[in-house]
Amino acid sequence: MGKLVVAAALTALVAVFLGERLVALRKRCLASREVAQNHLPNCHHIKGLEYGSEDITVLPHGLAIISTGLKYPGLMSFSDAPGKMYTVDLGDPRMKPVEVRIGRGFDLDSFNPHGISVYIDEKDHSVYLFVVNHPQGKSQVEIFRFMEEENSAVYLKTIQHNLLYSVNDILAMGPESFYATNDHYFVNDILKQLEHLIGLAWTEVVFYNPEEVKVVARGLAMANGINSSPDRRHVYLAEIYGHNILVLAVQENKELTPVKSVAVGSLCDNIEVDQSTGDLWLGCHPNAWKVASYNPVDPPGCEVIQIQDIHSEKPVVKQVYADNGTVIQGCSVASFYKNKLLIGTVFQKALACDVK
Ligand SMILES: *[C@@H]1O[C@H](CO)[C@@H](O)[C@H](O)[C@H]1NC(C)=O
Repeated sequence: MGKLVVAAALTALVAVFLGERLVALRKRCLASREVAQNHLPNCHHIKGLEYGSEDITVLPHGLAIISTGLKYPGLMSFSDAPGKMYTVDLGDPRMKPVEVRIGRGFDLDSFNPHGISVYIDEKDHSVYLFVVNHPQGKSQVEIFRFMEEENSAVYLKTIQHNLLYSVNDILAMGPESFYATNDHYFVNDILKQLEHLIGLAWTEVVFYNPEEVKVVARGLAMANGINSSPDRRHVYLAEIYGHNILVLAVQENKELTPVKSVAVGSLCDNIEVDQSTGDLWLGCHPNAWKVASYNPVDPPGCEVIQIQDIHSEKPVVKQVYADNGTVIQGCSVASFYKNKLLIGTVFQKALACDVK
């Protein structure tokens, strides 16, 4: 065989391989899935939140803390301005967002907030606010003291570590300790694309405290949202390309051991937990391909899924809300408080609805 023939055959093989990988990727992204509208009563957009509301966490009396303005490689962003944090009181029917004032010592110009989590000290009720931040595309964790009365955040410290290289979401476990998910294995943007294409399940969960940093779960198909049961004995993890939620048991040494996996049939992003019932509320991408290749004429949809009785033999997985992108696009989180549902998005608006 001539060299040319061999080269042509190899090229054809590579093309077939990549074509096949592309089909697999589209399947993982549920690329062509269309969602039927499944709306809730009394929905309205939160005026003033127009540049995403990627993650939300709700304090015990219904004050939601929201991260906005995420800039993430390969994803849409409608604003060049730095990211911000807002609060919205879910107990107040006006639902007016108020910017969280961040105290001295923190670089506001490069703020690019992503996943957030709070830890409340049982003794003095201090609220520690943990924020995943990507200044200049880096990954680090910021710890603040959140002052509810003043709606302000006192900057405490920044945590950088070589195991925290592609952090997506965080679960605060103490004033200085947390779990964090890395959503990619590679750091380089081109290699990241390849990672999606090939379908590597190489992502991890990391445990951090000042004395010890370690990988506690590995081999995940794009680890994303992370949260815990109200008693903190179990961790819930969204394995976005696996279309499932993993339940893991927290060991004394903070290692995580797998308990079960619950199929959700969608690409679920962040996980919020109702502290009174233990229900999981998930912001999900029914067709993530449309999130990655944003087209305003054919926008990504939105799906909110609730899981009840996750620790029982038969967890109940229920779609609570769905939209085809006309009302809300690219939902990444849903928080429930009393009868209110607050839905956040990666780069678009936020929506509040009633749930009976
Ligand atoms: C979404 O659904 C509405 C109502 O069913 C329909 O009018 C609209 O064309 C749909 N939009 C898209 C982008 O599919």
